[in-house]
Amino acid sequence: MRQYIRFIAFAAAALCIAAFAAGCSQPKKYKIGISQCSSDDWRKKMNEEILREAMLHDNVEVEIRSADDCNEKQIADLDYFVKNGFDLIAVAPNEADALTPKIKDIYESGKPVIVFDRTINGDTYTAFQGADNFELGAMAAAVASTLSDEPRIMEIKGLDGSSPAELRHNGFHHAADSLGMKIIGEGVGQWNYEEGRRAADSILALHPEVNIIYAHNDRMALGAGAAAAARGRKDIRIIGIDAAPEIGIKAVEEGKLNATFLYPTAGHELMRTALAILNGDKFERNTLFPTPAPVNASNAEILLLQDKALREETNKILQLQGRMADWSQRYTRQSNVLIAAIAIILLAAILIFVLTRFYWNSKHHRRQMEQRNNELARQRDQLERQRDELERQRDELARQRDELDNLYRQLQEATGSKLTFFTNVSHDLRTPLTLIADPVSQLAAADNLTERQHTLMQLADKNVKRLERLINQILDIRKYDSGQLKLNLVNINLSEAMREWVAPFANMAAKQHIKFNTDIQAEPEVKIAIDVEKTERILFNLLSNAFKFTPENGRINISLRSDDSDAIIEVSDSGIGMSAEEMKHLFERFFKTDRINPNGSGIGLALSKVFIDMHGGSIAVKSDEGRGSTFIVKFPLHKVDDPQNAPSPLAVGFSSMMDVSEIEEVEDCCVEIPEDTPTLLIIDDNRDICTLVKNVLSGSYAVITASSGAQGIRVATRYVPDLIICDVMMPGMNGYEVCKALKNEELTSHIPVLLLTACSRDEQRVEGYDCGADAFMTKPFDSAMLLARCRSLLENRRLIYKNLEISAANAHISEEKAPKKPAPARPENLLEDDFLRKFREIVEGNIANSELSVEGIAGSLGLSRVQLYRKVKALTNCSAAELIRNIRLKKAAVMLKTSTATVSEIAYAVGFSSPGYFSRCYKEYYHETPAETQNRTSKAR
Ligand code: FRU
Repeated sequence: MRQYIRFIAFAAAALCIAAFAAGCSQPKKYKIGISQCSSDDWRKKMNEEILREAMLHDNVEVEIRSADDCNEKQIADLDYFVKNGFDLIAVAPNEADALTPKIKDIYESGKPVIVFDRTINGDTYTAFQGADNFELGAMAAAVASTLSDEPRIMEIKGLDGSSPAELRHNGFHHAADSLGMKIIGEGVGQWNYEEGRRAADSILALHPEVNIIYAHNDRMALGAGAAAAARGRKDIRIIGIDAAPEIGIKAVEEGKLNATFLYPTAGHELMRTALAILNGDKFERNTLFPTPAPVNASNAEILLLQDKALREETNKILQLQGRMADWSQRYTRQSNVLIAAIAIILLAAILIFVLTRFYWNSKHHRRQMEQRNNELARQRDQLERQRDELERQRDELARQRDELDNLYRQLQEATGSKLTFFTNVSHDLRTPLTLIADPVSQLAAADNLTERQHTLMQLADKNVKRLERLINQILDIRKYDSGQLKLNLVNINLSEAMREWVAPFANMAAKQHIKFNTDIQAEPEVKIAIDVEKTERILFNLLSNAFKFTPENGRINISLRSDDSDAIIEVSDSGIGMSAEEMKHLFERFFKTDRINPNGSGIGLALSKVFIDMHGGSIAVKSDEGRGSTFIVKFPLHKVDDPQNAPSPLAVGFSSMMDVSEIEEVEDCCVEIPEDTPTLLIIDDNRDICTLVKNVLSGSYAVITASSGAQGIRVATRYVPDLIICDVMMPGMNGYEVCKALKNEELTSHIPVLLLTACSRDEQRVEGYDCGADAFMTKPFDSAMLLARCRSLLENRRLIYKNLEISAANAHISEEKAPKKPAPARPENLLEDDFLRKFREIVEGNIANSELSVEGIAGSLGLSRVQLYRKVKALTNCSAAELIRNIRLKKAAVMLKTSTATVSEIAYAVGFSSPGYFSRCYKEYYHETPAETQNRTSKAR
């Protein structure tokens, strides 16, 4: 609302200003000051003319001042005009000498000055206008000469020092001289009646012979006339100047004066010149009005009448002007009323417009507010709904959290009781294990065992020790958790101890073809207070892990150095490395992944970290998946105070505490095996399992071993064994991957694979069968069962191929003799078909070549003789040479039935070098001679 009020106020103010401006839009008014030196009838007439002229111009304002014949007063009047900002000053100077300086100042200050009637010294004025007073004087002399035959003249002069007096005198004398007239006396009448009378009276007293009086104006002439009359001198002729109607012309008409001269007032002319100057128009700088004819008895009356008529007209004009002024006032008033009315109407219109607008805006605003309120209400409802929903979700979350807390508590309780149970079991296991360990150890050392018995006892001994170590680790962890695990710090030379501890690993590295570098600081040797037993176990754990994950021809480095604050042990390997995710959980207890630690307990590294923490040290790992890992262990370089506590170097000897043979890897067994010996390959990263299985099976098979999946595939391809036993959980390639690779390789696809798994879950078996596995055995297994399983697998395979072979051999006979039966099922494996098809195509392509050898075909197939032999034997249960011969015989059988060639010709055609040998082989294979086949076939035809 406030803005509308402001707008209305502004509009009203604008209208008022506009109206005021319209009312006041007058052109600029010029102020003109008129300074008269005197006040008399002549000047009265002139002033009337000035004012009349001014009335014709709207833009002129005139003020007339009279100096009353006083120089000082006139100077004061001029100052007044200047001071009050008059635009132009017109002055009739009383006396030239007195007024010239002031007029000059005003003129030189830039204000326009018009000098009229009387002159000044010099020409410091804007314009001058007046009559030719010299000429006037001369004309008066001429008139005087006509008034008497013997003129004796008295001259009554105007004010001395005023220019007309001087000029009228000079002009008169000049003419009088030329006319030969005498001027008897001269007096000064000061331009007024009284002084004129007095001067004339004085002269008359002196010069009674005077018969003509010449006065410079009519007033003085009348005064002089009065003086003459008083002396009874009605004869004296009197001449005046001015011819103002009420005085001069009337006096002539009345006979008081004989003649007068019309001294031009020209007030209107003065105003016109003034306006021309002010308007910047062209004007005449010096104007001398022409001297008119004298007024005498002959024209005075007319002139008076003219004047009277003029006055009447003037009065009428003045009346009209008065009316016009009245009309103008009324017009102005009405205009103002009209403007005010228009302004009011406009204001009312604006007010109505503004109020209407205000009304509509308010309405619109109200509607918007309502909409906004509705929207806000909607949003509030929505927020309330969301808040309710959030509260519901919060309650739900709280409920779930409670459930989770509950579950977590239950889990903790379960874990706690499990761990307690686990610890108790570990405790319970330790005593019987000790009782087993010693007898087993003694038995393993006995010298009356067979080699096989010795191997098995050593295996048992080693694994009992491993079990003991594992149980000790579990119990250590529990001790640590319950705060019972203590550090036994002693001052030792760690450099020396390290050298002893790592020595046995060097032997193992050599056996496994691993480059083993040690870099143990000797200058100075690292001396430190440390728990010797725990440190050795840490080192053993790190090194055994490194060996476990580093393949043949890999590299393991171990170093010891010290800086200002720490002893730093670094163990690095070029093994399989770890992913970032695996590294995150590396030191968690019981953390194991199928890839990194498939067979371990996952406790070793966790316990190492516990030991390192107890020392106030740290362990860090850097690893690059596929390229190896580096473990960095730091022990603070503390010392203990008791030097007695320092153990001897022997006491920290490695061999007395840890057995490196526990972690020795399977040695891949690569032996020369006769090609027809049943061969079995064991793939397992656990050396003991390999040893055990080998022991079980070596009586029945030639056994070869491989310690990793990749190695297993290489050995399988090289030897083409009859059966493969493969562990599922292995670092690197696991058993499923190995199985899949073998089944996809042409050379090994036929070999039955038996997977060994620690887990009997069905999903694992499904995955195994999907990879092409033929059988499973769950660990721990029974030796007899394993042996039986292997036998069964091989026997089944043999039977399948035997049946196939018999079916193939009898096929051509049964074609004619028996009704057609469906062909026996072929092995599903298409790779086997492919291999035999390629073999057959090579033989059939060289069917007539009796020199075609097994080596030649092996070369064509990119195989060794042994590989070809073992593959063919496994698939067909016959040797490669027998298979070549059988293909030749089949071809011969077809030829015997379809061609007219002789048996000998056919024998040579299918690559037999002797028909007799062909017939023998044919009879043996088809149970009839070639001739019998020919005869039977021709009869049938
Ligand atoms: C008026 C007057 C006139 C005369 C004129 C000369 O003041 O005396 O009578 O003609 O001045 O300036």
